[in-house]
Amino acid sequence: MEDLPKGLASSNASRIAKRLRSVSGGRILDVATAGGGFIDTLMKTLKDYDSFVGIDYCASAASKKEMESAKKRFEGKPVRFLEMNAENLEFEDESFGTVCMSHSLHHLGKMDRVLVEMKRVLKSGGNFILQECYCDGDQTEAQKADELEHEWEARIDSLLGVTHNKTLTKQRIMDIGSSLNLRGLEVFDSTHPVDCLFCKRKYECEDPKNQATFHNSIKDIDNAIKRIENYSDLEIRNRLKEEGERIKETIAESGSASASYLFIIGRT
Ligand SMILES: C[S@@+](CC[C@H](N)C(=O)[O-])C[C@H]1O[C@@H](n2cnc3c(N)ncnc32)[C@H](O)[C@@H]1O
Repeated sequence: MEDLPKGLASSNASRIAKRLRSVSGGRILDVATAGGGFIDTLMKTLKDYDSFVGIDYCASAASKKEMESAKKRFEGKPVRFLEMNAENLEFEDESFGTVCMSHSLHHLGKMDRVLVEMKRVLKSGGNFILQECYCDGDQTEAQKADELEHEWEARIDSLLGVTHNKTLTKQRIMDIGSSLNLRGLEVFDSTHPVDCLFCKRKYECEDPKNQATFHNSIKDIDNAIKRIENYSDLEIRNRLKEEGERIKETIAESGSASASYLFIIGRT
């Protein structure tokens, strides 16, 4: 892929992009879409597609806002965003040519139920695409710092009543992929933070201490601290704040880079 930033040639991102270039998506459902980030990726990589529907149950005020801004961002494009619980997809059986979910398995309260629903609405012979970051394996110090931040934020979400489980292990994600009983199952292991895929300016530099990545992580931690400002248990609040400050120091030392992830694709 000629437009991949330098350095990506050694990672699997280019193989994933190449695989996506052979997929005709048809009508595509992106489950737990948040701000439609994965729709963006698919639009830029798929061989062709008809339209997208992005659904999210928007459990928090922040995710409602994210969906609203996604609606504006995709204005004029064949994309619809709907507030919906993935446990009960309000679509006919076999009504999509592709169903996908990105980095959301560990956000689901009833994962099995959601996966059954995704298969139900997928046409026979349709594409099932799953990508999910993992917590183990051989990751850099910068990726480990990101995982530390992620786990800390997951605890904050859980305290505030938003489901956010620990990131899954690579083996667990592979087991989930196998349990889907897809035909022609392919699993790609990214060895590189996905952020670099399309961003030409901010993430051009491969250094995990690159200023844009660093400032984004610090901003995320500060926002999470703000979210627990009114949490009733002072002791827990203070402990989480202290942990947040320590994670900032770790990030200042090692930098921060997105965790590695598995990309799984197969057909029903
Ligand atoms: C990490 S975000 C998704 C990121 C997005 N897919 C991307 O790749 O840019 C996880 C999302 O899962 C959504 N979610 C969790 N459980 C859900 C459910 N049962 N139904 C719909 N959305 C759900 C959350 O609201 C949140 O927006």
